[in-house]
Amino acid sequence: MVDNGKVGPIVRVQGVSRSFYNAAQEIQALREVDLSLERGNLVAIKGRSGSGKTTLLNIIGGLDRPTSGEVYFENHALGTLSESQLTNLRLQHIGFVFQSFSLLPTYSAFENVELILRIACLDRRERVRRAQHCLHLVGLKKWMQHRPSEMSGGQQQRVAIARALATRPNLILADEPTGELDTNTSHQIFSLFRKIVEHQKATILVTTHDPIIDEYADLLYDLKDGRLDSS
Ligand SMILES: Nc1ncnc2c1ncn2[C@@H]1O[C@H](COP(=O)(O)OP(=O)(O)O)[C@@H](O)[C@H]1O
Ligand SMILES: [Mg+2]
Repeated sequence: MVDNGKVGPIVRVQGVSRSFYNAAQEIQALREVDLSLERGNLVAIKGRSGSGKTTLLNIIGGLDRPTSGEVYFENHALGTLSESQLTNLRLQHIGFVFQSFSLLPTYSAFENVELILRIACLDRRERVRRAQHCLHLVGLKKWMQHRPSEMSGGQQQRVAIARALATRPNLILADEPTGELDTNTSHQIFSLFRKIVEHQKATILVTTHDPIIDEYADLLYDLKDGRLDSS
């Protein structure tokens, strides 16, 4: 993807609506959402279950397309990109963190992180260097050879964050990353996000219904029935 001098917001969401249709009715998951993500910010979208959080993240990450409206990533309209261009964009520029961690159970923490670097076609030396670096950064130096089942939920989520960082994305999308974690562990995850924003110059967009995010985010938005308001 062309780098346009990295000026302006990293992401612009313009008038994005997304409807789903089932047998009898239309579900409006997003209604005319506008959002700009400035670089180096930790931005939170709060909303209860069903408010459209996952739909919005999927559309920003190029995993789904809006019914109307457009998303610009580094000034490129995602609607003009093919599926394979979107796949490349995700692999090279966006890191994903999910509520359920999504780690491979038979792989060690190290292997889980290294795998994405294999997919990104990095050579072995660079894969090892980066996987170790990212696992150190999230505080898992001593846990690299452990499998997910041998780790706590918070540690597993930190492996997932290391994996999201490994490709050095400018944008990290985290969908309810603390949804399965207790309050103490949630504080650890959100302060790790602050550290990443401050030291790795990444932009993080996180969805949550956890009120403790207020202590960490640069900007907070509320999503309610598919409508976004600043809070
Ligand atoms: N693939 C889908 N098919 C039909 N309805 C969907 C689909 N994805 C989401 N929805 C509906 O869109 C609304 C928003 O869902 P979602 O984005 O998952 O909300 P959240 O992540 O905030 O819980 C909900 O009413 C949900 O049932
Ligand atoms: Mg969701």
